[in-house]
Amino acid sequence: MQQEFKIGSFTAKELIEKFGSPLYVYDENTIRTRYRELKESIETIENKKILYACKANSNVEIIKVLKEEGAGMDVVAPGEVYTCLKAGVSNEEILFTGNNMTNEELDYAVKEGVILNIGDLSTLERYGEKYPNTSVCVRINPDVGGGHHHHVITGGVESKFGIYFTDVPEILKISEKYNVIIKGIHQHIGSNILDENTFLSAVDVLLKSAKELPDLDFIDFGGGLGIPYEPGEKRLNLIELNKKVAANFKNFCQEYGKEVEFWIEPGRFLVGESGYLLTTVNTVKSNPSYKYAGTDSGFNHLVRPTMYGSYHEIVNTSNLNGDHEKVTICGNICESGDIFARDRVLPIINEGDILAILNAGAYGYTMASNYNTRPLPAEVLVNGDQVRLIRRRETFEELLRNQIFGS
Ligand code: LLP
Repeated sequence: MQQEFKIGSFTAKELIEKFGSPLYVYDENTIRTRYRELKESIETIENKKILYACKANSNVEIIKVLKEEGAGMDVVAPGEVYTCLKAGVSNEEILFTGNNMTNEELDYAVKEGVILNIGDLSTLERYGEKYPNTSVCVRINPDVGGGHHHHVITGGVESKFGIYFTDVPEILKISEKYNVIIKGIHQHIGSNILDENTFLSAVDVLLKSAKELPDLDFIDFGGGLGIPYEPGEKRLNLIELNKKVAANFKNFCQEYGKEVEFWIEPGRFLVGESGYLLTTVNTVKSNPSYKYAGTDSGFNHLVRPTMYGSYHEIVNTSNLNGDHEKVTICGNICESGDIFARDRVLPIINEGDILAILNAGAYGYTMASNYNTRPLPAEVLVNGDQVRLIRRRETFEELLRNQIFGS
């Protein structure tokens, strides 16, 4: 029987009393543990780099924790470049994987000295014209994809991403034309992948493409490492997976005749399980079919259940061991799709109870919005018996910070 629900040494009630509700809470130990686990699983590879895909959670203090562990950063937008630089990450440790990049974005990346990763031939051409005699990384679409929902599969013809692996000869032509050295090759095939074979197939394709590019310093195999969301869901066997990946990689290096660096760039795996969205129940009601527990948060704060139908475990921290019943946990947004969980079996929920929505550390706050003109919640970082505020709750004034008032 669980006595108390705690994050570090803190109960949910203590955290809410101190910082207000709703509240994002991250456990620093979990982040560090995941990073070290991952690092250990690739320890046989000598030249390696783990980049953190900070789109999963771009709070500067979270970025700093991973930087301290030794991570570089994978970023996908100028704002992420800016945030990582503000967090003290060195520009050489930042890989900028752009999407439909404008010239201004290319210029910004070059000015800041981050490594550019280009995912379409026309952008590579445009880059070559502007910046000949330099070097870049290219993103390949290996025709293999995977992930928890079709929205997040980023390999294969249905996906807008990357230069198709069949177009490597075109990359070489542009590279020669402008003397742009292709120093890195990259792929990212999707998100929350729990199937080992999907990764292995993509690795094979990427390594084949890599052989055709003569000047590589690194190969980036992307992110996508899945985490268990549902109770009983199997964890990825990182050791087994990476043993196979490492063997393929080492063979490649031998044939290639150079010890290129091995890079990966997970987001969710490093921070997903560290995060909790704490929310207070303020209304309980029933209709002929459902019992509803209405909370003070919603898809404006955690959109994954609404957007992808994602499952997030929910704990009633105020009643851990009471009788169970079916309840639909909903948010306070004016849309019927604002449901965290439909007919979840949980210990009876009363008004005032505090719920913890688990595994909310990745793609929680970073995908939150001001819909219904509601402020964003605060974020805190727990480290054992220490807790600190790492982002204030937004104020009404801040909601209108860009507003221009007519006369
Ligand atoms: N690298 C690139 C280029 C990416 O686009 C992504 C994620 C990653 C790395 C990290 O993927 P991860 O290791 O976190 O799976 N909002 C969705 C996930 C979208 C992921 C987009 N790209 C969700 O909440 O499930």
